[in-house]
Amino acid sequence: MQRGLLLLTLLSFLVLCFKTGYGQPGTSTASGKKWWKEAIVYQVYPRSFQDSDGDGIGDLKGLLSRLDYLKSLGITAVWLNPIYSSPNDDNGYDVSDYRNIMKDFGTMADFDALLKGLHDRGIKLVMDLVVNHSSDEHEWFKQSRSSRTSPYRDYYHWWNAENGKPPYRYSLFDVAHDAWKYDSLTNAYYLHYFSQKQPDLKWENPKLRQEVYDIMRFWAEKGIDGFRLDAFQFVAKDTTYPAFPEGFEKSFVQYYAMQGNLHGYLQEMNKEVLSKYNVMSVAEGAGNSFTDAHNLVDENRRELNMAYAFEGVDIAKPAGYSLLHFKEVFSRWDSAFARSGWLSVFLANHDQARMVSRFGNDSPKFREASSKLLNTFILTMRGTPYCYNGDELGMTNAGFEKIDDFRDVQTLNEYRHVKNTGGDVQALFRRLQATSRDNGRTPFQWDSSANAGFTTGKPWIKTAANYRRINAASQEADPNSCLNYFRRLVQLRKENTDVLVYGNYTLLDKTNPAVYAYTRKDEGQTMLIVLNFSSANAQTRPGLNLSRAKLLLSNYKEAPLVGKEKTTLILKPYQAAVYKL
Ligand code: NOJ
Repeated sequence: MQRGLLLLTLLSFLVLCFKTGYGQPGTSTASGKKWWKEAIVYQVYPRSFQDSDGDGIGDLKGLLSRLDYLKSLGITAVWLNPIYSSPNDDNGYDVSDYRNIMKDFGTMADFDALLKGLHDRGIKLVMDLVVNHSSDEHEWFKQSRSSRTSPYRDYYHWWNAENGKPPYRYSLFDVAHDAWKYDSLTNAYYLHYFSQKQPDLKWENPKLRQEVYDIMRFWAEKGIDGFRLDAFQFVAKDTTYPAFPEGFEKSFVQYYAMQGNLHGYLQEMNKEVLSKYNVMSVAEGAGNSFTDAHNLVDENRRELNMAYAFEGVDIAKPAGYSLLHFKEVFSRWDSAFARSGWLSVFLANHDQARMVSRFGNDSPKFREASSKLLNTFILTMRGTPYCYNGDELGMTNAGFEKIDDFRDVQTLNEYRHVKNTGGDVQALFRRLQATSRDNGRTPFQWDSSANAGFTTGKPWIKTAANYRRINAASQEADPNSCLNYFRRLVQLRKENTDVLVYGNYTLLDKTNPAVYAYTRKDEGQTMLIVLNFSSANAQTRPGLNLSRAKLLLSNYKEAPLVGKEKTTLILKPYQAAVYKL
C-alpha cells in the first residue's frame, strides 16, 4: 500500500514537472528554474578548433576528437558557429544550404556523430541560425535574381532601378558602406546589411518565414538543444524603405533594430517551432533599450529565452575602458533583469578580439592572473555565461603584423574602404591589430607542436606566435594553470546553482576605481566576489562583514590579506577571490 502511494506521488510529481515544463520551452515553474539558465555555454568556432584532415581548416571530425576535452571542462552546452554549406565569404555566416554541412567541415554523418557524442557526455548543442540573410549562392537568391516575376523574388529586398537610386542604407561589411547592390540581370538593387554576398531575407513575406520554421524543425527534429539567432534584431524592415536622416549610420542600430513586426515574427516562431521542442533560444542583439530587451525575453511574451546585449562587451572598444564604467554597465543590466527576463553574460566571442587583451592584461606578467579574474567574473554573475573557446587558456590577440595576415571580410573591406577614401590606413591598421575579430579566430592552442596541434597542414589563418608558451597540454600538467582554474570555477558554479545562478546580485564599493566587489545572495547563503582589475595592489573600502568569510577560490596561491580593521581585503594585482560569507 505504502509503495503504491509512493509510486502515485512520484507519478503526480512527474506529471507536474511535465506540465509546468521544467526544461520545457515557453512555460515556467514557480521558481522560474530552467536548464538554459543553469547552462554553462562554451562557444566553439569550428573553423579554428581542430582540423582532422590536414587541409588547414577545422572540421567536425576534429571537434569530435576533442569531445573529452569539452567534457573535462565541465561545461554543459556548446554553441557552435555555423556549419552549414557556405561559400565562406563570412566564414559560414553566408549560408547556401541550411540543411547540409559545409564541405570543409564534413558530412551530415559527422554531424550526427557529433550530436550523439555531445549528448552522451551530457552536453547540449546550440546551433547558429543565420536568417537575417542568406548567401547569394543560395538557391532562393539565384531564383530571386533571375527574374522580377520569380516566385522567389519576394524572398529578398529589391528596389527597381527605374525608380532611381534607393534611399541610402549603411552596410557593415561593404567596401563602400553601401547596402544596396545593383544587379543588372533585372535592373534592380538588392539589400545587404552585411557583405554583398549576404543578401537580406525578406521576413515580411510569410512564405519565407515558413521556410525558416521548416529549417528550424529539421534541426530540432535531429535533437539539437537550441538556436542562436544571428543578427535577428535586424530582420524586420520597413519595406517602403524611407530615407533616414543624414549621418544615421553613426547610430544605425537605432534605425535597423527592432523594426516593423519583429515581435510578431518571434511570437509566430515561438508558436510554430520553439514551443514545440525542448530548445533554448538566444538572440544576437537586444535592441536599443531595456524595454527592447525585455520585449524579446520576458517569459509572458513567448518570444525568446535570452539575448546578447552588446553594451558590456563594447565597453573596451577601441580605446580601453574604466572599471567604474564596466561596473556601472553590468550592474545596470543586472538590475533591469532582476525580476523578469534573463541575460547572457559574456566578454568575448568570435566577433571580438581576445578577452584578456581587451579587458585584462596580456603581458607575460599579468596574463594568467587577469584572464582568471575575467573568467571569475563571467562565471559568478547572474545570467547564462558564454565562454569563448581558448579563453579558458588565456589565449591572447594574434599579433598580426601585416594586412595580409587578416582573413575577415569585415576587416579587409574596412581596410579597402579607408584606402579608397584616402583615410589614415596606418591608424586603421593599428586599430585592427588590437580590435579585429580575426584576433579571436586563430587556431586553438592545443600543444607546442607545429601549428599548436591544430593542423598538420597550413592553417587557414596564422597561429598566434605564443602557442609554445600558451597551450592546453602544458596547462593540463599545471594545477594552477588558467585551464585548471577555469575547471574549478565551472565546478563552483555548478555546485552553487541557487546562489550563483539565481541569487541576487549587489554591487559593493561602487566608486572603487580598482576593485569590483559584489555579493550573490539567495535565501540560504551569501557569496562575496572581489576582483582587482588593476596591475597594482588594491584594497576594498572598509565595511565588509568578513567575520564568517570562508575563501572558496582564488587565482593566487595566497588568500587576499585581511586589513587591520578586519573589514577590508587587500588584493594583489588582478587577484580574484570568491568567499562564502
Ligand atoms: C553576427 C555574427 O556573429 C558575425 O560573425 C557575422 O559576421 C554577422 N552576424 C553576419 O552574419
